[in-house]
Amino acid sequence: MIRTQALTKDFVVSRSRTVHAVRGISLDVEPGELVAVLGPNGAGKTTTLRMLTTLIPPTSGTAEVAGYDVVTHPDRVRAAIGYVGQGGAGGASQRVRDELVTQGEIYGLDRRTARSRAGELTEALDLTEQADRKIESLSGGQKRRLDVAVGLVHEPSLLFLDEPSTGLDPHNRANLWQHILRMRTAAAEPMTIVLTTHYLDEADTFAERVIVVDHGQVIADDTADALKAELAGDLVTLRVPPEHAAPLAGIAERASGTRSVRVLRAGGVSTVEIRTADGPGAAPGLLRAADAAGVPVSRVDVTRPTLDDVFLGLTGRSLRETAVVDAPDGGQGTVATGSTGGGSTNLTNNSSTNNSSDSDSSDKKEVLA
Ligand SMILES: Nc1ncnc2c1ncn2[C@@H]1O[C@H](COP(=O)(O)OP(=O)(O)OP(=O)(O)O)[C@@H](O)[C@H]1O
Ligand SMILES: [Mg+2]
Repeated sequence: MIRTQALTKDFVVSRSRTVHAVRGISLDVEPGELVAVLGPNGAGKTTTLRMLTTLIPPTSGTAEVAGYDVVTHPDRVRAAIGYVGQGGAGGASQRVRDELVTQGEIYGLDRRTARSRAGELTEALDLTEQADRKIESLSGGQKRRLDVAVGLVHEPSLLFLDEPSTGLDPHNRANLWQHILRMRTAAAEPMTIVLTTHYLDEADTFAERVIVVDHGQVIADDTADALKAELAGDLVTLRVPPEHAAPLAGIAERASGTRSVRVLRAGGVSTVEIRTADGPGAAPGLLRAADAAGVPVSRVDVTRPTLDDVFLGLTGRSLRETAVVDAPDGGQGTVATGSTGGGSTNLTNNSSTNNSSDSDSSDKKEVLA
C-alpha cells in the first residue's frame, strides 16, 4: 500500500541553513495495516506524511502510495487516500453538515450518500448538536473532530491521520478511536491507516505496528510488544536499607536475564532497579538470592515497559519530555487549511499547488481543491 525508498526532504531555510527534516526513510506498509508513527517534536513525522500525501515533493528517494508514484501521479494518489493534517481548522462560515456533504461530493459521492455519511459521522464523532452551526463557532476539540470527519467522509482505503486526537478530551478520544476501528473493519477491504500521535497509550493499544522516528530517520519498527521486549524489558524494583544496596546490585548483575542495574537512594532507603527480559520470572529468584545473602527486601515492584521506555532505551531521551499533551485548542497552532477552512486537506484533482513553499515553516496552508 505504501512503499518508500530512501525518502528525504530538505528545507532550504536560508543560503547558509538547510533543515534535513527527513533523512532516508524506507518503509513498506501492507494493505490493512494500522501503523502508528511516534517521535519527538521535529522528528519529521508531518513532513513524511506530507510527502506521502503529495503535498510536498521529496528532495530525493521515491514513494509509491496506493500503487502510484507520489511525484508522477499525485492525482491518482490523492483520489485513493484521506488525509487529516496536523493543527486546528481555520474559521469558516460554512455549516458543519454542509461542509461534510460538500466534501463528500467533491470525492464523487452522490448527494444522498454524502448526506447519509455526514449524518453517520456527525453522530459518531459527537457533532450532532453542532451539525447546523457554522464551523467558525465550534470549539477547538469540535473543530478537530470535524477535521477527522472530513478526512473520513469518502471512506478512503488508505487514511493518513496526523495527530488526530491531540486536543480532544478523553471521552472524545475514545469516541474517535471507536469510530476509526469500527470503520476500518466495516469496510469491504480492510482500511490501511497511518497515524502519528504523541499519546503513547494510543499507539500501544491500537496500532499493530509502531514506527519510531527520530531526527528524520526510522530508529525502530515492530509491534509494540516486540519493541518493549527487545528494547526495554521489564523493570524489577527492590527496596532495601542503603547498606544492602551494593550487595543486592551485585546479585542482580549476576542473575540471568539482567540487562542493567541501577541503584537509587532517597529518604534513607535505597532502591535497586533491575531491567530484565522477564520481570515476573526473575523476581522470585532475585528474592531468594537476596534472602540467602541476608539482604532484607522491604518491597518489590514489577513493571512492564512502556513505549516511552523503548524510546529512552533507543535514544537516552524520554518522549514524554517533548510530548504534546491535551493541547487545549486542538492543535499546535499550525493550520492546514482546505478550501473550506477545515484542517483536513482536500486531496482531489488539482495538483498545481503541489509545491507549496518549501522554506517557510510558518506557512502550512495547503489549498489543493
Ligand atoms: N516548510 C518548512 N520549512 C522549514 N523547515 C521545516 C518546514 N516544515 C518542517 N520543517 C522542519 O522540519 C523538521 C521536521 O518537522 P515535522 O513537522 O516533520 O516534525 P514532526 O515530527 O511532525 O513534529 P511534531 O511532533 O512537532 O509535529 C523540523 O525541524 C521543522 O522545523
Ligand atoms: Mg507533526
